[in-house]
Amino acid sequence: MKKIISTMLILAAASTMLFANGQKESSSVSTSAKKIGVSMPTKSLQRWNQDGANMKAELEAAGYSVDLQYAGDNDIPTQVNQVENMVTSGCDAIVIAAIDGSSLTSVLKEAQDQNIPIISYDRLIMNSPAVSYYATFDNFGVGVIQGEYLRDAIKLDSKSASDPAYLELVTGAPDDNNCVYFWGGAMSILEPYIKSGAVVIKSGQTTRQQCSTPNWSNTESQKRMENIISANSYGPKGQKLDGVLCSNDSTAQGVTNALKEVGYTSANFPIVTGQDCDITSVKNMIAGTQSMSVFKDTRTLATKVVGMVDALMKGTTPEINDTKTYDNGVKIVPSYLCTPVYASNDNIQKLLIDSGYYTKAQLGL
Ligand code: BGC
Repeated sequence: MKKIISTMLILAAASTMLFANGQKESSSVSTSAKKIGVSMPTKSLQRWNQDGANMKAELEAAGYSVDLQYAGDNDIPTQVNQVENMVTSGCDAIVIAAIDGSSLTSVLKEAQDQNIPIISYDRLIMNSPAVSYYATFDNFGVGVIQGEYLRDAIKLDSKSASDPAYLELVTGAPDDNNCVYFWGGAMSILEPYIKSGAVVIKSGQTTRQQCSTPNWSNTESQKRMENIISANSYGPKGQKLDGVLCSNDSTAQGVTNALKEVGYTSANFPIVTGQDCDITSVKNMIAGTQSMSVFKDTRTLATKVVGMVDALMKGTTPEINDTKTYDNGVKIVPSYLCTPVYASNDNIQKLLIDSGYYTKAQLGL
């Protein structure tokens, strides 16, 4: 009996012992005792539903219990409350895809005080020392892929100030830190052409702020594009429009709707970029009303993050591949960057169908 009690005491002590870096040590305890909070921004975009479902399934398969929450439709106070509940209800680690990278500072202070590791998922949480790790895709690389696609599809190298290409620019939520990188990557390719006059942006809207879309909403991007179209007389029979840089698929869908409204068809559709390979956008690609997207396999990201959680719970060091890029204003957050992949009608069979990401039926094929 004495032996059993002392064994229990040793196990209990082991389960609460802290490492010097604040991680809860647990190698001697089954992961089934551990609860992981997963906070996602919205249910209204396909990708976050996939991200949440993948994370839950993989964490459960690894033996964790999961508290998965969606913050309504990008509602910041809801996300703050949900994370607060995860802290007070005893989650052992919390994974967060932040709506507004800067609004979580005080709730994360509570998490840090309780040595709960925080992993920033896809979007970097800003201004907080509590963020332990970050896993995302190479967000600058996403923008580069989009910019290069526009450059090559519109043959910008053969354009000049006397024979320019006409583009418009649409990016995402101003409070999403990823936008800084998407925009930066695309502009690293397009800016020289804009400066030389080989690309003309007739709306004159060329800053990230001017081109942003609140909450990445397709309704907002559609409204903005409708205004730009009417103010500049763009149309198949009006002012030529060669392409629209869109930072993701939801903004691209709004732009596509606005272009269709003024009579563009697959025969003369301007080049429209995207990101995520949302089903709606892949269908638009097949229909010729969106030109490309960037595939970010959410299964890969979930696997990486689950690996990070598992390492932290077992007191080992998570795998990272970037220690320079992501400064959140307080520290450079050690990161793992997954690789984004260019997607267009040329490769969707292999990339999306053969890989099992979508069935043909889901894409209406
Ligand atoms: C993600 C994109 C997504 C966008 C809108 C970004 O932070 O990286 O994949 O399209 O948010 O939800």
